[in-house]
Amino acid sequence: MITLKPSVAHPLTDSYGRYIEDLRISVTDRCNFRCQYCMPAEGLPWLASERVLSDDEIIRLATIFVRNGIKEIRVTGGEPTVRPSLPNIIRELSKLRDEGLESLSITTNGVLLDKLASKLSEAGLTRINVSLDTLVREKFHRITRRDCLDRVLKGLEILEQFPTIRPIKVNAVAMKNFTEEEILDFAQLARRKPYVVRFIEYMPLDADGNWRREQVLPGRYIYDVMNAWKPLVPVSTNPSSTSRVYRFADGIGEVGFINPVSEPFCSTCNRIRLTADGQIRTCLFSIEEYDLLGPLRAGATDAELSKIMHAAVARKELKHQINEGAAFQRASRSMSQIGG
Ligand code: 5AD
Ligand code: SF4
Repeated sequence: MITLKPSVAHPLTDSYGRYIEDLRISVTDRCNFRCQYCMPAEGLPWLASERVLSDDEIIRLATIFVRNGIKEIRVTGGEPTVRPSLPNIIRELSKLRDEGLESLSITTNGVLLDKLASKLSEAGLTRINVSLDTLVREKFHRITRRDCLDRVLKGLEILEQFPTIRPIKVNAVAMKNFTEEEILDFAQLARRKPYVVRFIEYMPLDADGNWRREQVLPGRYIYDVMNAWKPLVPVSTNPSSTSRVYRFADGIGEVGFINPVSEPFCSTCNRIRLTADGQIRTCLFSIEEYDLLGPLRAGATDAELSKIMHAAVARKELKHQINEGAAFQRASRSMSQIGG
């Protein structure tokens, strides 16, 4: 693999030589859904509001991150659209293009997009991932514990009116005895609509601790079913991409597979995460975090905050241990508290 050296003076580099160029910023731990594989029905104990980074604090930290070579920012939650100031955060982050930011996106459950798509587009959002695990209303209700399939589909359609937000990616968490029967329906969605449909293997990040390996539907299985229906041809992606992308051989429709369990991609991982309460996580499965909130509020300078970022990245984990049997320890937070 060829990794181009970043252009900034002191790029964030880990001890295995990986340049960290992708930052996920969680702007809230709250959510208006309760997906079975993520949150309990009653929700979780939310962060106290005074512990949540303000808009200005998010922008300050993001600016320092970008000056250290971060090129992609993805805003996540919980559900980022439940934070009323999300358009403002996007507007301010989009100004970091002048500092070297190349990509600005959000990951959302899509339920508020009918109201928010135009505001987000005006604010400078250019990419989006919408989570959608099923196209069947009753299954959608069961998995998210909300009867909102039509509203999410409507939100996706409204996005189509904003050509500056592209690609529109639709992410489905793939699970056994759930996803199989809809594989070709998702393939048809990818062909009918300007959406890149991607399947993500179910990971042990659910708050309830119910994950079982037997529930993981390998991306390869889905690929085989689709490919047998209509041949798929690979599309090249950049080396740090987590997804394997294919197009149907007739050129219509793009699909992707994110296979963290069956085909880990840790060796090319270029991501870190900032939680809503200002902690750096260097892996989805991290046990340890690095505090930026405390120093930030105690008056640390940009240089001091930058030093904490470098120290955290230097300790980035080699890989996750989902496949290491007894060595696997669950992450110190669940998905909604980390932010995808
Ligand atoms: N495994 C895989 N993906 C998950 N997500 C949430 N929990 C899990 C899990 N346990 C996905 C959501 C969304 C993104 C934020 O993470 O569906 O697409
Ligand atoms: Fe909310 Fe996303 Fe978790 Fe579902 S997966 S409960 S939409 S944070």
